[in-house]
Amino acid sequence: MHIHPLEKRWAAISLLLVGTLGGLIVYTAVAMSIHPPSNVEAIDSTRLHLTPEFSEENLGVKREKDGTVVARVVMARFMVVPHEITVPAGVPIVLRVATPDVVHGLHVAGTNIGTQVVPGYVSQVRTTIDFASVARIGVRNADGSVTVPLFCNEFCGLGHQSMWGRVIVTPK
Ligand code: CUA
Repeated sequence: MHIHPLEKRWAAISLLLVGTLGGLIVYTAVAMSIHPPSNVEAIDSTRLHLTPEFSEENLGVKREKDGTVVARVVMARFMVVPHEITVPAGVPIVLRVATPDVVHGLHVAGTNIGTQVVPGYVSQVRTTIDFASVARIGVRNADGSVTVPLFCNEFCGLGHQSMWGRVIVTPK
């Protein structure tokens, strides 16, 4: 069988490209330990509702014994539980998010909160919300707090667009 030299060359180039990209994946996984963002903490996603931390009654915002404010959220197709959380601005907060099904993305408008939520892992974000930046884009409430939306920003299925919630930020 005769293969045209030009065709041979392009076949070699495309094989080289595939090899390079495959090699990069292996390299980043092994040498750079690329892992789900923010936190390497495994959890059994199929039994999320049975874990003490992500059971329904434990979700939402709590002040831990050491004083840190921790918000626990479950992102599932196609909702965010709880639908609304209230967090203070100007103090360090911790967001802990898990999913029982597929990959979701968490984004809170007006803040730097943005993480993938990968099944099998707990995604954790440590941040301090700047009240001025949420006030610029959020809706001001009668009590002086500001409401900003929370979105799923990773396509997760046919109900992806209905995965949203509210974050009420209280001034310091
Ligand atoms: Cu969850 Cu898109």
